[in-house]
Parts: sequence; structure tokens; C-alpha cells
Amino acid sequence: MSSDVLVSATGVKVHFPIKRGVIFDRTIGHVYAVDGVDLEIRRGETYGLVGESGCGKSTLGRAILRLAEMTEGSVVFDGEDLAPLRGEALRRKRQDLQMVFQDPLSSLDPRQSVQSLLVEGMKAHGLASDKEATSARLRELMDAVGLPQAALSKYPHEFSGGQRQRIGIARALSVNPTVIVADEPVSALDVSVQAQVINLLESLQDALGLTYLVIAHDLAVVRHISDRVGVMYLGGLVEEADADSLYATPLHPYTRALMSAVPIPDPAVEDAREQILLTGDLPSPAAPPSGCRFHTRCPWKQAERCDTERPELRTVSIDGVAAGHRVACHFAEPIASGEIQPHEVRAEAVLPFDPDAGIGVPDVEITP
Ligand SMILES: Nc1ncnc2c1ncn2[C@@H]1O[C@H](COP(=O)(O)OP(=O)(O)OP(=O)(O)O)[C@@H](O)[C@H]1O
Ligand code: SF4
Ligand SMILES: [Mg+2]
Repeated sequence: MSSDVLVSATGVKVHFPIKRGVIFDRTIGHVYAVDGVDLEIRRGETYGLVGESGCGKSTLGRAILRLAEMTEGSVVFDGEDLAPLRGEALRRKRQDLQMVFQDPLSSLDPRQSVQSLLVEGMKAHGLASDKEATSARLRELMDAVGLPQAALSKYPHEFSGGQRQRIGIARALSVNPTVIVADEPVSALDVSVQAQVINLLESLQDALGLTYLVIAHDLAVVRHISDRVGVMYLGGLVEEADADSLYATPLHPYTRALMSAVPIPDPAVEDAREQILLTGDLPSPAAPPSGCRFHTRCPWKQAERCDTERPELRTVSIDGVAAGHRVACHFAEPIASGEIQPHEVRAEAVLPFDPDAGIGVPDVEITP
């Protein structure tokens, strides 16, 4: 592992059992929330993770922080394998890896003042033993996130959404982390406030040398803040590249569809550009399609390989595409050159996932 890689996740799988039964819980299937992800986050970079709701972004972020139990795979942080850590050792390691959540109100205890919320986190890591130093640190944190000192004695409900997110960020910062996983950090905020919070995250990164994993369903948010971007679909990474390369030359049909759904303010560009409509619903992660998981919705799907062979995330060499751009599509090259053209996709009925009716649940019965 090269030393500029800070977090290295390899073969990560998180499968949640689907249980049924009145007296004995039987496992009747699994939700394949994360199903084989390799991802590296470099020291000091911002890695943006995007994809539709339910594709496994939060679960992957939580698995990296060891907040969700991995079914398989490993996470190495700064040269140390996190998998064997348990109890106190794991708790101590959490100082390095902090999380910022989408809805700050639900992650902040409403009965605690901001001061007590911050001190609680610091105490847990032995960082609040000296009273004077703690007060100075609290003032410093308020400055860092752009809140007045008076905020320390207030309660979470007394703040606006943007201010609450600043408190959430201060709480993460209070223990001097190395990595922050921000899960939809601005999705719950007004557009006008989103930019302020994004700018705050960026300036804190510059000042403190932080490494970020920013999770968002909104491509626009991720584009602005990320050095590299990974696109997830049904539990797997389908494309990964430097942000500029990904936005200039998206290679995976799913990324191209996502990209074509983002409105462009210039009407001339808007009219001329590619429009790909995704037909069909997102399949159930409890019964993911065979082969390429995108084949049920892919306008470029081919008769060979697409529904039988799961494509690997591989580096491609295509003219005009930056080095290190990776894509999980068997036909990335002929699609990029235009040799293979898109066709209409007939929407396949995807029944909603309903374990009680046995819909979307695999036939095989798995006993615990
Ligand atoms: N604890 C759990 N038990 C069972 N299934 C779960 C659990 N947590 C998540 N899932 C399922 O795993 C899949 C991935 O969920 P996840 O929350 O990671 O998606 P996401 O990409 O973060 O979506 P969103 O954009 O809506 O936040 C979903 O089908 C979800 O229902
Ligand atoms: S492998 Fe086939 S189905 Fe999957 S994205 Fe590529 S062309 Fe589409
Ligand atoms: Mg999520």
C-alpha cells in the first residue's frame, strides 16, 4: 500500500439477514447492501460517493468506520487493519474516524447544551481533563465552525438547520480526527445554506489537513467538493475517477444517465447534450440482477456477457480519458467510441421488495 493511501477498503461486503418467524427467527434471505467494494481514500483528499437512494452508500461509510459489521472484507486505516479491533481498542480508534450526519438534530441529544455535547465527546477520548484548556478548545471550535461563543450555552433546537450542521461538524472536530465521513451533510439544508456548509468543510480541510469521504445522492454537491468520485449502483462501485475526468468523460452507462439528469443552466448546452432516461425501477438489493447489476436498465446492454458475467471495476485506456479512471462495464471502450449505440430499454416490471409476500426475496432458503 503506498503511503498516500490513508484508508483502504478491500472486498467489503455487508449483507443484512432478512428474518421471519414467530418463535424461531429463520433467515429467509439477505439484503446485499454492499457487495464487494474496493476503495482507497488518499491522505488529505475528498472522496465523493454518489448513487441512488438504497444503493448502499451509508452502509459502506458505516462499514469503513466499523459502525456496521462487515460480512466479508477488510479496512486498513493508516497501515492498521481495523477488522480485529474490538471493545476499548475500537473505541479509541474512533477518535481518528468521525462521522457527520445528514440530520444534525437526530444525531444531537436535545437535552444537552452545545457545550455539554462537545465536552462529552472530548471526555470519551480523555481530551477534557484540564478545565481551562477545555474552555479554550471550545472557543476555538466555535470559531472554527463560524458560531458565536454564546452558542455554547444553547440547545440544539435553538439553532437553524445550517447552524446545527455546524455543531455536528464541531462535535466531529472536537476529538481531532484524521478522517471524517460526512453522510449527506447538506441534503437536509436549504440550497443557500448548502454552499456555506460545503465551504466550511473545505476550509477546515485546508486548515487541518483532514481527509473526507463525502456521501451524497446529488452529483452537484459531490462535484464541487471532491478530488475523486466513486459511483455506486446496487451495492457495487461502477465507476471511479478524478472528479474532472468523471464529469468530462463519464464512461459507465449508469453514470451517463445520472449525469444527463442534472439540469444545465445554459439552454443551448441543455438542448444539445445527451439525455438518457432510466427506465424501470431500481431492483431490490435482496435479489440483485445476475451479471452486470445494471443490465435490467442499461440502454447499451449486449446479448453476450451483460446478464451472465459481473464486470470488474477496471482501469481503461481510452483516448482523452485520464489515467486511473476505472469503470465496471464489459463494453466501456466500444461505448465510448460510439461503436455500440444505445437502444431503447423495455421497462421490466420490478416488483417492490416485500418479504411478507415473498416478493423480491431469493427462492433459496438460507438457514442461520
Ligand atoms: N440495518 C439494516 N438492516 C437491514 N437492511 C438494511 C439495514 N441498513 C440498510 N439496509 C438496507 O440496505 C440497503 C442500502 O441502504 P443504505 O442506507 O446504505 O443506502 P443509501 O445509499 O445510503 O441510501 P440513501 O441515499 O437513501 O441514504 C437498503 O436496501 C436498505 O434498506
Ligand atoms: S456491462 Fe453491459 S449491462 Fe453493464 S453497463 Fe456495460 S453494457 Fe450495460
Ligand atoms: Mg444513506
